[in-house]
Amino acid sequence: MFLTFGMLVYFCGRFVDKSQALFSPDERGLVFGDGIYEVVRAYNGRWLRWDEHMRRLGGGLEQLRITGADISSFREIASRLLRENSLEQGEATVYLQITRGVAPRAHQFPPAGTPPTIYLEAKSFAPTTAAQRDGGAVVVVPDQRWARCDLKTTNLLPNILAFQTAREAGALEALFSRDGVLMEGSRSSMLFVKNGTVFAPPLNNYILGGITRELVLELAAAEKIPVALQPTFQSELLRLEEMMIIGTTTEITPVISVDGRPVADGKPGPVTRRLQTALRKFIESM
Ligand code: PDD
Repeated sequence: MFLTFGMLVYFCGRFVDKSQALFSPDERGLVFGDGIYEVVRAYNGRWLRWDEHMRRLGGGLEQLRITGADISSFREIASRLLRENSLEQGEATVYLQITRGVAPRAHQFPPAGTPPTIYLEAKSFAPTTAAQRDGGAVVVVPDQRWARCDLKTTNLLPNILAFQTAREAGALEALFSRDGVLMEGSRSSMLFVKNGTVFAPPLNNYILGGITRELVLELAAAEKIPVALQPTFQSELLRLEEMMIIGTTTEITPVISVDGRPVADGKPGPVTRRLQTALRKFIESM
C-alpha cells in the first residue's frame, strides 16, 4: 500500500508521485552517502543563480567520478516541478540529488554503465523572516568533517551533529572552527565584518564555495564595501563588528551572539543591513 504525498517528483527518468519514488535498499546514496546534491531557490518561478549551482554540481560529479547525469536537462525538470506542484508563485526550493546508483554493497565503484540515481523535488519555502530581521545566535563547534568540504556531498553526518548541537543550544547555526580558524556553518557560509571590511574565509578544500556567498560578495563590491578573502580566527570573535550567515535557505541572516556572548552591541549591524537590502533588490530585479 502506498502513501499518497500528492507531490510530483522526478525519480530515475520519470515524473512520479513522491510515494512512487522507491529507493532501493542497495542505493549507494543510502548505504554509503555516495552522492552529491544541490539546493536552488526559486522566487516567483525564477531561479536564483541556476547556472552557478549547475556548474558546482557538474564540478562535484567530475571530482567524484559519477557519470551518466545530463545536467543540462535539470532546469526544465525543476521548472516543470514548480509548475505542476503550483509553486510558481511565492518562494520555493528544489533539491537535486545524484548518487552513484544501485549495486550490491561493495566499496569499489559499481560496474561501468550503472546509471546514477537522479532525484529532484520542489517544495514551497517559508523564509526565516524573523531571524533575518532580528538576527540570532550561533555556537562554535570543532570541524570534524573530512578534507573535501568543497564537494557538496550527501554525506553530511558531521554537519547534522553540529546543527543539532546548535538547535539544542537555541542557536540558528553551528560555526565550524578548524584549528582555531572559522570556516563556515553546518549548512551555510559565514561572513565577518572587521573595521568596516567584509572578511570571507578563503575558498579551499575545507569549505564549500557557496553560491549565495559569491553573489553577496559581488553585491558588496558593487556597494563599495571593502572585501577581504582572508581567514578569521576564533580568537577574534569578541572583537568582530558584525557577523552573518549566508546561504540559499538563510539568505543573509545577522548573527548577534556567539557562544552566548554578543557580537558588538548584540544588534544587526549596518553592513549586514546594506547587504540585505542589496540582495533583496537583486532578487526583485531578477
Ligand atoms: N546548504 N556551506 C555548507 C556546508 C552548506 O551546506 C551550504 C548550503 C552553504 C551555502 O551554500 P549556497 O549559498 O550555495 O546555498 C555553505 C544547503 C542549502 C543545504 O544543505 O540545505
